[in-house]
Amino acid sequence: MSSTSDRTVVLITGANQGIGYEVAKGLLAHENYHILLGSRDAARGAKAAEELDPTGKIVEPITIDVTDDASIQQAVEQVESKHGRLDVLVNNAGINNEVEMYSRQIQNEKEGIQEKPDLAQLRQLYRDAYEVNVSGAAITTEAFAPLLEKSAATPARIVFVSSHTGSLGLRIDKLSNWYPRLSNPSFPIYRSSKAALNMLTLHYAAKFQAKGWKVNGSCPNLTATNFSRGKGRPASESAVNIVRLATMGVDGESGEYTDENGVVPW
Ligand SMILES: NC(=O)c1ccc[n+]([C@@H]2O[C@H](COP(=O)([O-])OP(=O)(O)OC[C@H]3O[C@@H](n4cnc5c(N)ncnc54)[C@H](OP(=O)(O)O)[C@@H]3O)[C@@H](O)[C@H]2O)c1
Repeated sequence: MSSTSDRTVVLITGANQGIGYEVAKGLLAHENYHILLGSRDAARGAKAAEELDPTGKIVEPITIDVTDDASIQQAVEQVESKHGRLDVLVNNAGINNEVEMYSRQIQNEKEGIQEKPDLAQLRQLYRDAYEVNVSGAAITTEAFAPLLEKSAATPARIVFVSSHTGSLGLRIDKLSNWYPRLSNPSFPIYRSSKAALNMLTLHYAAKFQAKGWKVNGSCPNLTATNFSRGKGRPASESAVNIVRLATMGVDGESGEYTDENGVVPW
């Protein structure tokens, strides 16, 4: 077996369950990857890593809460001291925290109840969602960029796990299959956070273009995880395009937003 230094070192945030976990599993099927399985909870991360790799040689748990700068910094230090570099970063951690509020609004509308908006609660939901989905991904990327500079892989790669629901293009295209769902004015916090994440994807693609890094966004589609309350397709299917973007070579695209069927409009 090759040593860690011969392997492509990839960090996936929020990989103790759901799509991130399946991305780790998908990467295990590729030779020569060393997988840093990110989890904000150390015990959940250790359990998931052990499930995937009982030998502990290929899948390594790493604690990282993307809303906590000290936690991000500790993760950077762990990767630096153990591996000296990072080759691939998958910004997967994400939340949708407005399901309860949205369900209540629908119920109230049905019952003809005029609800007074709880502005403080709304502001907190925006803060919390943007902290994970937007600032969390940006700050994690900035924090790991110096280790990506030392990447032994050609090219270094960054993947942002976004969503079709963040696409302005699909939102306004009346001919798109997505239009009926996206034109429904639901989940403004989550959707706008993913639209912001898309702009970050383009930002980092441009910022790192001269270095030859591949920076792309991926749309998982509705996927049966805790996030979606079990609705949608298997997470293994949603991991396929993320794994493709995380493993591609110099001929791969950069600054694109795709699912497994190809390009998705921004
Ligand atoms: N499922 C879908 O239908 C769907 C569709 C489109 C896009 N997506 C996107 O796909 C990504 C993964 O979602 P999923 O469906 O796999 O959801 P999930 O099963 O709920 O997993 C989300 C992961 O993110 C982690 N996380 C949450 N807050 C975090 C934080 N502050 N720091 C670090 N990690 C944190 C969670 O940790 P804990 O286990 O500790 O909670 C969990 O590991 C998200 O970016 C989501 O927006 C999902």
